[in-house]
Amino acid sequence: MCGIIGYIGNRKAKPLILEGLKKLEYRGYDSCGISVVENNENKEPQTKTKKIVGRIEVLEKKLNGKFLNSAVGIGHTRWATHGTVTETNAHPHSDSKGEILLVHNGVIENFIELKELLIKEGHKFKSETDTEIIAHLIEKFLDERRGFEDALVCALKLIDGAYALAILYKKEPEKIFVARKSSPLLLGIGKKEFFIASDATPILSHTQKIVYLGDNEIGIISRSKYVIKNLEKVKISKEVKELKINISGSMLDGYETFMLKEIFEQEKTIARAFRGRLNFKNGNAHFGGLNITEGDIQNFEKIILIACGTSWHACLYGKYLFEELVKIPTLVEYASEFRYSNPILNNKTLVVVISQSGETADTLAALKLAKQKNVKTLGLINVVGSTISREVDGGIYLKSGPEIGVASTKAFTSQLVVLYLLAIYLGKIKKRLDKKKTKKLMNDLLKLSRKVKKVLNLNQKVLKIAEKYKDAKNFLFLGRNFYFPIALEGALKLKEISYIHAEGYPAAEMKHGPIALIDKNMPSVFVAPEGRLYGKILSNMQEVKARNGKIIVITTEGNRKIKKIADDVIYIPKFSEYLLPVLSVIPLQLLAYHIARLRGCDVDKPRNLAKSVTVE
Ligand code: M6R
Repeated sequence: MCGIIGYIGNRKAKPLILEGLKKLEYRGYDSCGISVVENNENKEPQTKTKKIVGRIEVLEKKLNGKFLNSAVGIGHTRWATHGTVTETNAHPHSDSKGEILLVHNGVIENFIELKELLIKEGHKFKSETDTEIIAHLIEKFLDERRGFEDALVCALKLIDGAYALAILYKKEPEKIFVARKSSPLLLGIGKKEFFIASDATPILSHTQKIVYLGDNEIGIISRSKYVIKNLEKVKISKEVKELKINISGSMLDGYETFMLKEIFEQEKTIARAFRGRLNFKNGNAHFGGLNITEGDIQNFEKIILIACGTSWHACLYGKYLFEELVKIPTLVEYASEFRYSNPILNNKTLVVVISQSGETADTLAALKLAKQKNVKTLGLINVVGSTISREVDGGIYLKSGPEIGVASTKAFTSQLVVLYLLAIYLGKIKKRLDKKKTKKLMNDLLKLSRKVKKVLNLNQKVLKIAEKYKDAKNFLFLGRNFYFPIALEGALKLKEISYIHAEGYPAAEMKHGPIALIDKNMPSVFVAPEGRLYGKILSNMQEVKARNGKIIVITTEGNRKIKKIADDVIYIPKFSEYLLPVLSVIPLQLLAYHIARLRGCDVDKPRNLAKSVTVE
């Protein structure tokens, strides 16, 4: 987490850095800061730093009329890891003399040992952060009469952990130094100007020519050129990528929040996820960048789906779908667990990682483990050019456009659609699905947008239900089979944006423990479209009713009988059971949204969270 931005060129640095920080706030937003170097004729270069607790707007106001004369600077928006949320712990951090100023994303694992060593040598620290030790380490080596680049390399060689760094040094005021290991960092190449950023989002409107820094690489950037080297100080020639990303879509367009806008965008984004990927002639889906042969697919005997959070819930849907349609054993793994496990992988295994951001540290590490074991890897990623999208053997972009709200909504439904397409593709090639069946599956997909539109029309109805339950302290979300991942997702949405405790369970598991929680104050949300296991989930509802629990049900149109047992019903259109999960999650997104808004929560930037989780 944390967002880094830097600028060096001929324009004023401050507004560009503040603009970039606003676009990076999704990576963390508890505190922020900026440093600039003023290097005016006939004057000693001067560094200036301002840090605050709070959002970028506050920093912007405090800097009104200040920091005007600089074309070189760095900025940071923080998601606290080491040390509480205070102005002192905010970045940039500096060395003892205030000559080195740096911003950092990542975690220095051996910072306690390094800090002790530096304290013994007389260094005094102001903050509780791991980051501050980097500035002091560089200072230590500079004092040994090394040049800055040498000192930086010596410091980096002592550090264990992850870092993306942008550094200013007062005595070399016309440069920004950068370094990267495990945390993402890139260089944007403009006309006689350069940008440094954690990802491309904040600089796309200025340049789309990007150089991605690799692990253990450093960069020395001046106004007219950049040099990238490895830690042996050998120059590396880097490919310049042209991203060609459409930057519209990061405005509110009249919506009160990004989350609401993104929920309503789903009518279009799910269509984008499959558009151009259906071939009715051969009755199959097709993709551009899979890089996996039909022979490989015939050979696969197991699929492992790996992700975190909402993307993990998509994986769980994928498991039900792949086992049903592709008839292939499918495992679902939390990336954070998988990365430290001893998975049994061979060339008959396909590993699929799913990530909206393409930057999640645990998912990236899980992917790297799979690659070490020489298995084929696929990525289902939203952010074009992100680290994971560059590391996988093959990939499918979700095409849902920038997702700004921290709570994932449209990326999730696109993940479900892309998994559905992948199931068609694998099932057809493995001859588990015939042409007739795949055509039916594809035809259903063509009807999905219209059905999504109908579900979005339920917004006012969901708002009424939210008003009724907004003060509940706990919620249960229950579903079975394809709707179990949807129940989990409903619970996650509610807790992350409204701070109400919510648990998702397979409905029948409720009686093995959570049933103890049920009383008249505890609402249970059942995701129960009619279809397989509907009768079973009805029994689970009776169990809740018998204990005076409140029942909210998401079911399919025409199911009148449900009114006898449910306190509130949300009707979604009847549809294919493989695509009903897409329809049934939307009322849950809206329910979480309205409850959170009614409770006065900031849904786009919920407390303690960040959009891109780049620390483990
Ligand atoms: O970018 P990713 O899909 O890899 O992110 C994974 C999770 O961090 C993410 O889904 C998180 O759970 C969201 N806040 C959910 O709304």
